[in-house]
Amino acid sequence: MSDTANDIKHVASPLARQTLLDRDLTRPVAGRRPIRLLPWLQVVKIGGRSIMDRGADAIIPIVEELRKLLPEHRMLILTGAGVRARHLYGVGLDLGLPVGSLAPLAASEAGQNGHILASLLAPEGVSYVEHPTIASQLSIHLSAARAVVGSAFPPYHHHEFPTSRIPPHRADTGAFLVADALGAAGLTIVEDVDGLYTADPNGPDGDKAQLLRETSAADLAKSDGTLPFDRALVEVMATARHLEHVQIVNGLVPGRLTAALRGEHVGTIIHTGAASA
Ligand SMILES: Nc1ncnc2c1ncn2[C@@H]1O[C@H](COP(=O)(O)OP(=O)(O)OP(=O)(O)O)[C@@H](O)[C@H]1O
Ligand SMILES: [Mg+2]
Repeated sequence: MSDTANDIKHVASPLARQTLLDRDLTRPVAGRRPIRLLPWLQVVKIGGRSIMDRGADAIIPIVEELRKLLPEHRMLILTGAGVRARHLYGVGLDLGLPVGSLAPLAASEAGQNGHILASLLAPEGVSYVEHPTIASQLSIHLSAARAVVGSAFPPYHHHEFPTSRIPPHRADTGAFLVADALGAAGLTIVEDVDGLYTADPNGPDGDKAQLLRETSAADLAKSDGTLPFDRALVEVMATARHLEHVQIVNGLVPGRLTAALRGEHVGTIIHTGAASA
């Protein structure tokens, strides 16, 4: 009896007697690549401002394209927040709300866009799922349906990093974090531009902007120019475990998303820091 109690108290574990702060000690145990939970999953982030805010003209064709992709791919479709979140940041910042209060409010705007998309795909069995479902029941939902829709924001809420007054981890970062954590087959970010340019193609120097067909998170980290996605995405791409690249595509051009999911290079490919398997 006392021996058993003693064994239980002294559970053998490679980390039992070590500080978790020393990387040299943790690396032999924690340095291995994690398993891929959903290796067949395609994660697609649909821009809030670039697609959803345009209404039917942009949404109906992309819904049609997603519908046709269902027999080919199982998808987690995540939506960005768009113009309503910009308004919300304006009002919230004026009132002095902390970043951790703004993050869940913006996430709920992204969720509204998700509800709209899911309603249009409902005849195909697609529904909107909340963050806890994505966290723990995605696999059963994707056994019942070819795709589900969710808010692309990560659920940081009051744990959002206070590095800026606007939540730094927004829809693109959230989509990447979940895709990499699940070991998904790919992440495609759908925008209203052909990809990443040397400068904002819709900005004052837009006529000089050139499309970059391919780049890396490491190269993007060296420049501080504007991007069509969250800057925090560059940081999380650097420490990716599974996703070796993401592709930015123009969702206003029919067929681009389909081609990207079929592995074609039709937008900007950004290489992450993940080592190839
Ligand atoms: N270097 C760049 N290359 C391409 N587009 C850029 C660049 N810098 C800024 N942009 C702008 O980014 C826009 C995309 O905007 P944004 O990322 O805000 O939309 P979104 O992804 O739909 O937003 P949301 O976060 O709501 O999902 C493009 O229309 C383009 O004008
Ligand atoms: Mg964007």
